[in-house]
Amino acid sequence: MINQWGVEVPQQIIQEAVAVLRAGEVVGMPTETVYGLAGDARNPSALARIYAIKQRPEFDPLILHAATFEKVFEAVDTFPQKARALAEVFWPGPLTLILPKKSWVPDLATSGLPSVAVRVPAHPVAQTLLRKFDGFLAAPSANKFGRISPTTAGAVRAELGGEVPIVLDGGPCSCGIESTIVSFLEPEPRVLRWGALTLEQMEPVIGRIAFQEKADPRLAPGNIASHYAPRTPLKLWQETDPVETGLRIGLLALRVRPMDTPQRVGFAKRFHALRLLSPGGDLEEAAARFFQALRELDALGLDGIYAVPFPEHGLGRALNDRLCRAAHGTRVP
Ligand code: TXA
Ligand code: MG
Repeated sequence: MINQWGVEVPQQIIQEAVAVLRAGEVVGMPTETVYGLAGDARNPSALARIYAIKQRPEFDPLILHAATFEKVFEAVDTFPQKARALAEVFWPGPLTLILPKKSWVPDLATSGLPSVAVRVPAHPVAQTLLRKFDGFLAAPSANKFGRISPTTAGAVRAELGGEVPIVLDGGPCSCGIESTIVSFLEPEPRVLRWGALTLEQMEPVIGRIAFQEKADPRLAPGNIASHYAPRTPLKLWQETDPVETGLRIGLLALRVRPMDTPQRVGFAKRFHALRLLSPGGDLEEAAARFFQALRELDALGLDGIYAVPFPEHGLGRALNDRLCRAAHGTRVP
């Protein structure tokens, strides 16, 4: 089959991946959001393998991926009307729903919670794999716990290398940040994690959706304060803030104001490296490049990364969430 980037993923490799999954092993799976580390959701030893490879604490539950909306009914106990309405519009796509689970769903997948996270990914390679596998694949992002999410097959190999027998290469992820998680366990729908689907896209479909400024880790166990973190210290920074002298600093920003005004001369020179995610100010383009840019800056051995917060609307909310967690607890010297 041909993936969205015109890269061919041979049927034989998909067949091999299915065989590996049936044997209880894990594979690297491209999705439109980020790459996942996928294992058979019905097989507790495959789930244990995912936690072990990621070095992830077992209190942080996994998302179950299915090929179709219809298939998801096999994993959930109830499917409220508003959740269905969102799924009808946005599946396949970067939307994860939290719903009451069916009893067969292993405790290890849900960290013992009575609810389960479900998603139908759109990426053609994930779709083919799920259809051929004909089951549910539990898949967290394919990075070590707390670190930068991978958006290319190369990043998965660099991160998890020898521990994963097959990484399917589906090209760079088109969204570039994780799915948006919406819980339907209470009467009012609630966003637990900002992601590639925006509030502005969802509210016209189901009306008001609640969210917490700082999501409560007890509601979304993965919402820990430090996450998506580079090894290099990262701090939130505005263009009007000073730049430490004598340090090698990289700048991560949507764009910078025009460089040609007299007071801006030399601006770029103050930084050892620049990653400007979208000169035109397009948040979709910025999201698609975000984690890769962070990974590249992290590889340069800098003293620090300055990151300029994004506008707080649309995908900017999800990007700012990632930035705050990446900066948490670190200090640029
Ligand atoms: O885009 C994505 O969602 C990617 C791709 C691979 O699908 N997956 C992903 O998985 O981001 P992960 O494991 O990195 O994040 C899943 C998060 C968990 O950290 C947790 O907060 C939340 O989903 N979650 C899972 N099950 C939950 C549940 N029953 N209740 C509340 N939150 C849950
Ligand atoms: Mg993750």
